[in-house]
Amino acid sequence: MKDMVMRKFQEVFGDAEGAKCYFAPGRVNLIGEHTDYNGGHVFPCALTIGTYGAARRRQDNRLRFYSVNFEKLGVIESSLEELVPSKEAGWTNYPKGVMWAFGEKGMQVPFGMDLVLYGNIPNGSGLSSSASVEILTGYILRDFFGFEVSNQDLALIGQYAENNFNKVNCGIMDQFAIAMGKKDNAIFLDTADLSFEYAPITLEGAKIVIASSNKKRGLGDSKYNERRSECETALAELQQVVEIKGLGDLDEETFEKYVSAIKSEVRRRRAKHAVYENQRTIRAVEALKANDVALFGKLMNASQVSLRDDYEVTGIELDTLVEEAWKIEGVIGSRMTGAGFGGCTVSIVKDEAIDSFIENVGKAYEAKIGYAADFYVVEVGNGPVTL
Ligand code: GLA
Repeated sequence: MKDMVMRKFQEVFGDAEGAKCYFAPGRVNLIGEHTDYNGGHVFPCALTIGTYGAARRRQDNRLRFYSVNFEKLGVIESSLEELVPSKEAGWTNYPKGVMWAFGEKGMQVPFGMDLVLYGNIPNGSGLSSSASVEILTGYILRDFFGFEVSNQDLALIGQYAENNFNKVNCGIMDQFAIAMGKKDNAIFLDTADLSFEYAPITLEGAKIVIASSNKKRGLGDSKYNERRSECETALAELQQVVEIKGLGDLDEETFEKYVSAIKSEVRRRRAKHAVYENQRTIRAVEALKANDVALFGKLMNASQVSLRDDYEVTGIELDTLVEEAWKIEGVIGSRMTGAGFGGCTVSIVKDEAIDSFIENVGKAYEAKIGYAADFYVVEVGNGPVTL
């Protein structure tokens, strides 16, 4: 892939003199959905698919961007003076947002760059193609200009860019999973204080299979921000009666004790999901550590039901993929992953069932939804690297 991206750089910008090649992964979340902005736990991992970038430092403040995924757009030009926060202004908003965020954090980006990107994560699929571009950009800026930032800082800067430049109120999960990725490990992260531990993903005789619904989703135009504010209101209501910092501070029992403080039925269900999902995530990681993959799978299934019924972020495409997956023998667990409303499902499937999984879920999906899903048998990979 490196050769392809470097060749493209040369083709687009005339020569590749002084250009370097980088990679940042995509991510999939195994369990712990819509908990990261509620002070709960998440359990994502970085993938071996992601974003490749060839980049060259310039002597002036110009920015020239090109994406192999959006070839029709050609070269998009800008400059470090033109970094203006705006919602939904195209893919260059992600690298621009990170350059802007470094400046906001007191690290002025001194020179522009030429950048060619190619992502082999399907765009808008819920595998965090945008966070991947953000972390890639931060990693390149650190390499070019020697900014003293850790990978964890890169995650926080990426989230800051997403929240304040792109105006999407996302949590820290995606950027953290990508910046801190570790081969064959998922990250058990407590978003309340960013403490984390790596947990080996040793799925003997099984693999992680991602099914993309091919229903496109943009966080900006989704109901993501609405869910987030419903949780904030529910939290404020609960704080009238119990001392907590986030919904993640509650276990199920304490939640049930105080739930009547939440004044709307819808908000009660939203908060219930956040609380129960957090507890499920803690339990799922314990199960994995105890080598109880079957229990891990059951908790994934319960996560799906909660996201479908209480949080209402699935939709017919994701529900169909999961419900068809559940019918297949050899599927240990299956659920939607990421923000929802489209995007992907994640399933743990026994090796011998993978072919029939892809065939049967694929057929049933196409018959019901009218277009095909795509399937990826994925591996858990490292964070960003220079190639
Ligand atoms: C998106 C956001 C994350 C997280 C998930 C839902 O991926 O970027 O911060 O909230 O949705 O778990």
